[in-house]
Amino acid sequence: MKKSLLTALLVACSMYSQAQAETLKFGTEATFAPFEFTDNKSEVIGYDADIIRAIGEVEGFEVQIVNQPFDALIPGVLTKQLDGAIAAITITEERAKQVAFSDPYYKAGINAVIRREDGLKYLTLESLKDKRLCAQIGTTGANVAKHFSKNVGEYNTVPDAFMELKTKGCEAVFNDRPVNLYFLITKKDDSFVEVPELYNGEEYGIVVSKKNPELVKRLNSGLKKIRDNGTFAKIHKKWFNTEE
Ligand code: ARG
Repeated sequence: MKKSLLTALLVACSMYSQAQAETLKFGTEATFAPFEFTDNKSEVIGYDADIIRAIGEVEGFEVQIVNQPFDALIPGVLTKQLDGAIAAITITEERAKQVAFSDPYYKAGINAVIRREDGLKYLTLESLKDKRLCAQIGTTGANVAKHFSKNVGEYNTVPDAFMELKTKGCEAVFNDRPVNLYFLITKKDDSFVEVPELYNGEEYGIVVSKKNPELVKRLNSGLKKIRDNGTFAKIHKKWFNTEE
């Protein structure tokens, strides 16, 4: 074969493979460290970003992460603006009526954070009954808060809810324990403490449209591959500094 023809073929091939590179769009709400937050260049980083990129790598797709309000994620998937959502989203029966979930990839649970000066006043979740409580809008934390009180303030982000707690706009923030813990440790703000009780266990899954069972399969296959090749354990260690 003539050299020029070969070159032309190679160029055509590489153009073909570039055209094949598939990009999937995943929504998140990036004020939820260590699962999703932004670095100083406004890039989304965190546990979830690493997990979905690692899955993309073994399943052959590029990942684009879009930062949106939490309560816009499921609607975004339903209206096909997003291929999926990865945002520390708890698998619940109610959500599973609307959307499909990948296999679970993280075990969490809800607890409450209070002002340190109230540490002896609120020793149990029950002691927060009927108090003014705070949570992020549309979250399982907000649902749990509503279980204890009719007086719940719902904020766009968890940091907003913490601000409200600090300024005494509410008595407690109900939210995912790993995020509360990370907040208490990294903010080095000793004005808050946890109520020493976990409400319940929850598991996170990646949200996909029910109309896209193929993608659910790929995500599950990717999760399995990254568990088997050790990437999953590495990501866990990177963000939590413990074994899973
Ligand atoms: N796990 C909780 C839920 O699914 C809270 C998730 C909030 N995630 C976020 N990225 N802000 O309702």
